[in-house]
Amino acid sequence: MSSAERWSAAASDWAVTLGRLTERPGTALIDAVSLVAGEHVLDIGCGSGAFLRQLTRAEAKVAGVDPSAGMLDLARRVNPEADVRQGGFGLLPWPDATFDVVVAVNALQFAGNMVGGLHEAVRVVRPGGRIGIANWAEARHNDIEVVEAALGGVADTDEDYRCEGGLERLFASAGVTLIDAGVVTVDWHVPDDESLIRGVLSGQPGSRSTRSDAAIVRAARPFIVADGYVLRNAFRFAAGRCPVDP
Ligand SMILES: C[S@@+](CC[C@H](N)C(=O)[O-])C[C@H]1O[C@@H](n2cnc3c(N)ncnc32)[C@H](O)[C@@H]1O
Repeated sequence: MSSAERWSAAASDWAVTLGRLTERPGTALIDAVSLVAGEHVLDIGCGSGAFLRQLTRAEAKVAGVDPSAGMLDLARRVNPEADVRQGGFGLLPWPDATFDVVVAVNALQFAGNMVGGLHEAVRVVRPGGRIGIANWAEARHNDIEVVEAALGGVADTDEDYRCEGGLERLFASAGVTLIDAGVVTVDWHVPDDESLIRGVLSGQPGSRSTRSDAAIVRAARPFIVADGYVLRNAFRFAAGRCPVDP
């Protein structure tokens, strides 16, 4: 199964679990890029489309792109007015300088080459337009990583960019001038074991095994509260201005 197929298989679970965590980082990005009503905005790696909805509510003219057909179906269903296309950080299906603003939440780490992905994002921003990236902070700030570790997956390869100053370094490598950066906490409230398992596995598509359900529930014991679980996590975000003379 390709990566896009794995995300497609996970899409409906993602939409009702971890896909709901984009709101706080999304709000931070909207503020950090000083979004103005009517601006043309692209969300790269838009997934099931929650941030597209938020951008529409902020009165942007919205476009989204994702390689996963299953994610795109959901994104189009909840954002019928948006221009949603298949593609990704490797090659964005728009001409140079199409957008006022480009954003990505929890997606740039899947580019393979994050610097190359950021350059491709900058290409489709008009000269002097803005770019905003939000991603998980480093592992020690995220309770969800404790649970994911129980699945025994491969280590994250984007740790350098998840630490304080990481996104700022990434921006500098693509000639993007920093406007603002920060960190937001994102609590994941989970009502029951079934939602916990579906949510964790939706963020690790393709990692299901016969032992994974029990391992997830066992690893989440420290986060039990009266009405389920609360996992405290953090996202780092950065906003910057693209070169005026690219
Ligand atoms: C963790 S989900 C995040 C989705 C959405 N941004 C959100 O916050 O809910 C990662 C998304 O990135 C997409 N993706 C994977 N590889 C990508 C690439 N090379 N370029 C753009 N998006 C990619 C996946 O299909 C998936 O929808």
